[in-house]
Order: sequence, then C-alpha cells, then structure tokens
Amino acid sequence: PSRALTDGLGRRISYLRISVTDRCDLRCRYCMAEKMQFLPKNQVLTLEEIALLADLFVARGIRKIRLTGGEPLVRRDIGDLVRRIARHLGEGLDELTLTTNGTRLAEHAGMLADAGVQRINVSLDSRDPDRFAHITRGGRIGQVLDGLHAAKDAGLAVKINMVALNGVNEDEILPMLHWCDDQGFDLTLIETMPLGDTGEDRTDHYLPLTDVAAMIATHHALTPIDYRTGGPSRYHAVEDMGVKLGLITPLTRNFCADCNRIRMTCEGKIFMCLGHEDHVDFKAALREGGLPAVEPLIDRALRLKPAAHDFRIGAGARPATRRHMSVTGG
Ligand code: GTP
Ligand code: 5AD
Ligand code: SF4
Repeated sequence: PSRALTDGLGRRISYLRISVTDRCDLRCRYCMAEKMQFLPKNQVLTLEEIALLADLFVARGIRKIRLTGGEPLVRRDIGDLVRRIARHLGEGLDELTLTTNGTRLAEHAGMLADAGVQRINVSLDSRDPDRFAHITRGGRIGQVLDGLHAAKDAGLAVKINMVALNGVNEDEILPMLHWCDDQGFDLTLIETMPLGDTGEDRTDHYLPLTDVAAMIATHHALTPIDYRTGGPSRYHAVEDMGVKLGLITPLTRNFCADCNRIRMTCEGKIFMCLGHEDHVDFKAALREGGLPAVEPLIDRALRLKPAAHDFRIGAGARPATRRHMSVTGG
C-alpha cells in the first residue's frame, strides 16, 4: 500500500485514461479542427508498449482503466490490447472500459463484452441525422445507432455522453433524456471545454449546465444521488424515469478537489490534468531503459499534478491548452 499512487495534494490516484490513438473518423466541431495533423505512426506507442505500461500502472495501484482516443476503435488490433489489459480484471483492476463515438461499435461490441468490459460510454450529441452530420462534420448516425444496438445485444451497459451546445443541440436535451430512458441507457451532459483550436469560437456554443438542469427540472424534478462511476460526473435521479442523469461541469462547478485521474497519451506522455501542459514523457524512458526506467517517473509525474484546471470561456478567452481533447483522451 505504501506504493499506492497519491499526488502532492494527498489525492489518491486510481483511474488511468489511456488515449490509444489521436486519430478519429469524425471531426466534432467542439473537439477538432476540420484539418488535423495526426502523429506519425513511429511516434505512437505500440499496443505492446501500451500494455506494458498498463501492467506497471496496475501494479502501482491503478484500479480503473478507460481506453479513449481520438477514437479507440479505429486503432488496428484494438481487441488484442483490450484482452491483454483485461487479464488484470479481478486481480488489481476493478474496471476496464472505453469511451467511443460508436461508429465501429457494431463490429467490436461482442469482443468488448467477451473480454470482460461491462459498460461503455458512447458520445452522441444529436439523434437527428443531418444535425449529427453537421456536428461531426460528415458522420453517419446510422452507424452509431447500429453500434448501440450491438452493445445492448452484447449485454454492455451504455452511458451516452452529450456535449451541451447552445444553439446546436439544446432543444434535443430533453428528448435525449427520454430516449435514453426508453433505451435503458444513462445520460451524461458535458460542458464544452476550451482545449485546442477548432477553428470555431466555443463561446458561441457554451451552455452552462446550471441552466440546463433548471430547464429539465421544470419538467422532471432532479434529485442528486450518490451513485458514482469513478469519473467527474455527478448523478441525479429523474422524476418518473429510470435513467440516471450525469452532469459534468468543468466550468460551472469543477470537480478537481477529489480528482482521482491521470491520463496517458498515445505517445506515452503522462498528463496529470486535462487542462494543463505539464507532462512526463514515458516513451523515451521505456524505449531506452525498459520498465525499470519508467517506474521512478510515475512518482515524479504525480508530484506535478496541479490543484485544479482553469478553464475560461467568454470574450477574448483562449484555449487552455494547444492540444486537443483527442490527444489527451478527455
Ligand atoms: P465514467 O467512468 O462513466 O465516470 O466516465 P468519465 O466521465 O470519467 O469518462 P468519459 O470518457 O465519459 O468522459 C466524459 C467527459 O468528462 C469528457 O468530456 C472528459 O473530457 C471529461 N473529463 C473526465 N475527466 C476529467 C477531468 O479530470 N477534468 C475535466 N475537466 N474533464 C474530465
Ligand atoms: N469539451 C467537452 N467535451 C469534449 N469532448 C471532446 N471534446 C470536448 C470538449 N472540447 C467529449 C466527447 C466525448 C468525451 C470523451 O469528450 O464528446 O464524449
Ligand atoms: Fe472524434 Fe470524439 Fe473528437 Fe468527435 S469528440 S472528433 S468522435 S475524438
């Protein structure tokens, strides 16, 4: 236990988010620019390198791993990595899960369930085909709906992630809540965060979830519940419905004081906070000295974890980091 991961402020770190690729088959407007420069393949960790680092983190006390991207399911042979990390389930690791845009979920849902994944988060900002295509710059919603169907069939629990966007999908929030309730999914709403240039001004579309919760409450009373999933979402029971509504409020009410997370990029950089540039590079150490060279870097990284992010949206605000969400994996 003395080797358990604790940061400089005494926060216990038990959740590792791994971005397995910076690539994505969509270009959501709040996430990416239309033209993205992705990393050359030799700068990206191999699946074997990711697996070795995951082993090390589990040995050091990480109990929950989430695979993200970019889009994790566009990485070739992702099933090999999922199965490899899943070996730790029940032996140090409590949960292995994934956040996906769903476009390739139909192909992979069975694999995920077979490997021991029990629930997944699927990003879906609109159920209207044209609007979905607009937000994602060309995505086809049918693929995501097929993916969700397959996930259900495979027995995976699903949480829908919806970034609340003023003037874009605001009018769909209540219908989405009803639809999730019908489908047996939970729903988490997210405030748009200023990460990386997207070629658009996020201020225009920023929607504080305090306003959204007030709007929903005029239809269905919301009651905070102490259900937790290990991430920053704060959940509510919704009057007359079975769906749990999660709110992720990095701007209106941050959750940094009890942060339990660190993140690894597909290049092997460890970021202690989504909203800061400080990081420690594990790739060079791993390639030169193997895991023994990496191990001391974990403690160095933890000491760098800042107290909080500092996101600002509004006139003249600039992105908090140059890197996009897809690099750090959210
Ligand atoms: P659960 O395991 O279901 O709790 O998932 P999660 O909320 O941890 O993960 P998910 O990938 O669904 O992320 C949802 C949103 O939360 C994304 O927009 C993430 O960027 C955001 N998020 C997760 N962790 C942090 C964090 O530490 N800081 C900030 N600002 N946002 C975060
Ligand atoms: N702000 C908030 N959420 C974002 N996501 C991607 N970029 C942003 C952003 N700038 C969301 C995706 C996905 C999750 C991992 O992060 O929609 O659901
Ligand atoms: Fe891809 Fe997810 Fe970013 Fe959309 S939010 S472009 S699906 S990584």
